[in-house]
Amino acid sequence: MKAQLVIFLSLCAVSFAISFDFRKLFLRNKKPNPNNELNTLQMIRREGYPAEAHVTLTEDGYLLTMHRIPGKPGSPAIFLQHGVLGSSADWVMLGKEKALAYLLANQGYDVWLGNFRGNTYSRAHVSISQEDLKFWDFSWHESGIYDLPAMITYIVKLKENFLKAYIGFSMGTTCFYVMASERPQIARLLQSTYSLAPVVFMEHVTSPLRYLAPLADDYKVIFSLFGEGEFLPQNYVVKFLSKYLCITQYWEERICVNSLFILVGFDRAQFNYTLLPVILNHTPAGTSSKTLIHYAQGIKSGEFKQYNYGAKRNMEVYNSSEPPKYNLSKITMPITLFCGNNDWLSSPIDVMQLSNELPEKPIIYKVPFAKFNHIDFLWAIDAFELVYKKLLDMLN
Ligand SMILES: *[C@@H]1O[C@H](CO)[C@@H](O)[C@H](O)[C@H]1NC(C)=O
Ligand SMILES: *[C@@H]1O[C@H](CO)[C@@H](O)[C@H](O)[C@H]1NC(C)=O
Ligand SMILES: *[C@@H]1O[C@H](CO)[C@@H](O)[C@H](O)[C@H]1NC(C)=O
Repeated sequence: MKAQLVIFLSLCAVSFAISFDFRKLFLRNKKPNPNNELNTLQMIRREGYPAEAHVTLTEDGYLLTMHRIPGKPGSPAIFLQHGVLGSSADWVMLGKEKALAYLLANQGYDVWLGNFRGNTYSRAHVSISQEDLKFWDFSWHESGIYDLPAMITYIVKLKENFLKAYIGFSMGTTCFYVMASERPQIARLLQSTYSLAPVVFMEHVTSPLRYLAPLADDYKVIFSLFGEGEFLPQNYVVKFLSKYLCITQYWEERICVNSLFILVGFDRAQFNYTLLPVILNHTPAGTSSKTLIHYAQGIKSGEFKQYNYGAKRNMEVYNSSEPPKYNLSKITMPITLFCGNNDWLSSPIDVMQLSNELPEKPIIYKVPFAKFNHIDFLWAIDAFELVYKKLLDMLN
């Protein structure tokens, strides 16, 4: 166990060392481009699209902000849900002719961008302050059973119609499968779902998150490393490092210290370094340490099940010493899975297992690019040709 921890820390240290070059740090361009500092609404408006913000309340008191590029009255609604440490901004960063949110808006859809609890746009609760550790006492289980139902029912009520599609990326898929198996009546409000880089079974994950897995049940160690409430809270040091360490003239030679890249890696051929300052301004957008621990537990157990509190506490919470599994056989809707060959978090083998456990066989689309990695689904230079074109065809 100690050895695993040492490996994980060494990995962090290596990526840190690779990124860290004092000399270049001080040679960097004077000031970041002010355009990099825009929020999601401002980014959408800058591209000439209308943008709205809508706030919805979850059953357990969190206030979530959704962003919307409204379509014409009566246009079908499509919901996009970001991944771990991400936000609604992820769907628009590629820019006007390239980002998925705009491509969908151009096709006449009413586009909604969700934000999970704990990220930049959803850091409020009716009675708990975000300074309070209780605010951060959630994992992707709660995001699945509370956040998604709150956002989906809000849209359905406003539109007085079903959602045409749910498009999730990464944790946006994990939470979809939680919601669809735990609250099938909500899933019935969706006509179809598209999972980009689905993360459900995790036995074959190759991300350094793997090295945390053996520690998954030893919260004290993990909490002391990453913070007990928020995962790597954006204190001055982390913020400074993750933001400025890559903004040098020679960043393509290095990996960023940013926690997102440590977890998912990046694909040199498909990564547009010009986007880096924008990405770093929005990522990590914030989540709880418990969310990451829940993932580490999934890697360790190889099962898709609820949070493991340890035998004694599980008995109190679940009336069973093991956490209950999510029952995927309750999911009956048209599903398409998109997977990349080189995805550190969503390996093709794990995606096959998901496919096999769903009662109705999903369509599986393997991205035809050998090095396609996790975040390529959002930001690849050829995301349109490799993924979005196919997705738009399927929607029509
Ligand atoms: C707890 O589980 C036991 C055995 O599985 C069952 O008999 C009992 O009714 C359960 N109790 C509650 C409160 O669900
Ligand atoms: C899972 O759901 C299916 C379909 O509703 C049901 O038949 C089955 O008994 C459930 N399995 C468990 C373990 O609850
Ligand atoms: C990289 O991103 C910049 C800024 O969004 C854009 O102008 C440029 O066309 C992109 N390059 C490629 C190869 O897509």
